[in-house]
Amino acid sequence: MEVLIVDTPEEAAAFAASAVLDGLRAYGTGNPVLGLATGSSPLGLYAELAAAAQRGEVDFSAARGFALDEYVGLDDTHEQSYRQTLIREVCNVIGLPESGLNVPNGNGETVAQIAEQAAAYDEAIKAAGGVDVQILGIGANGHLGFNEPASSLRSRTRIKRLASQTREDNARFFDGLDQVPTHCVTQGLGTVQEAGRLVLIATGSHKAEAIAAAVEGPLSASCPGSVLQLHPDAVVVLDEAAASRLKNRAYYDDAAAGLQFGI
Ligand code: F6R
Repeated sequence: MEVLIVDTPEEAAAFAASAVLDGLRAYGTGNPVLGLATGSSPLGLYAELAAAAQRGEVDFSAARGFALDEYVGLDDTHEQSYRQTLIREVCNVIGLPESGLNVPNGNGETVAQIAEQAAAYDEAIKAAGGVDVQILGIGANGHLGFNEPASSLRSRTRIKRLASQTREDNARFFDGLDQVPTHCVTQGLGTVQEAGRLVLIATGSHKAEAIAAAVEGPLSASCPGSVLQLHPDAVVVLDEAAASRLKNRAYYDDAAAGLQFGI
């Protein structure tokens, strides 16, 4: 795992975008296949990717994107559905065509149907050749995607109950807590780990505890973010506030300085 700590959220976005572009070069075998997170954390990163595309450093016009998650029971035209959120915040920003955007289907007649659709989502990722780079945020409770604490570290895309804290955190996007769906379909932690590179960005002191548990805590389903420890190419980009509870800070800085000199 590479842990890169920078002064500001803006610098974090720029470094995380570089890690994404390097990852696409390392793992891409054709047009980019990106794993996409929603939420506040990666917004600056997406803006940096848009700038890189404008400079001609990358081209997302034939890229494919696979969302991490989607709410259950929210029409995919609902403005807070993750499909619509990703169209607004990613497709329209970086120039990834809507036709290349894949989002888990959280609607169906029965739970069994949604479960079948979730399994088909994993197959669609495989059929695309796998995700080259998975962009990630982390929840204050350590969740990755919507894999809440106690999620199996080998889980596949499936229906999950959202934690109360997650619903409260996301209530700001809805007209009240009772409007926030109770369930989601999320890529599993096993699914996420199949991406070539993972790039997690976290900023702000409210993420410090989750980051400490994910990076330095035991590998544990109690902190789904700790699954990054199992991945051979995970990059964690933090601002000072999000890094404030890390104990092994001096080593991360030394290692990052080495990286800059290509060692
Ligand atoms: C988003 C997702 C979540 C978020 C996490 C952090 O698709 O799956 O894991 O990354 O909840 O959200 P923000 O970035 O809004 O703090």
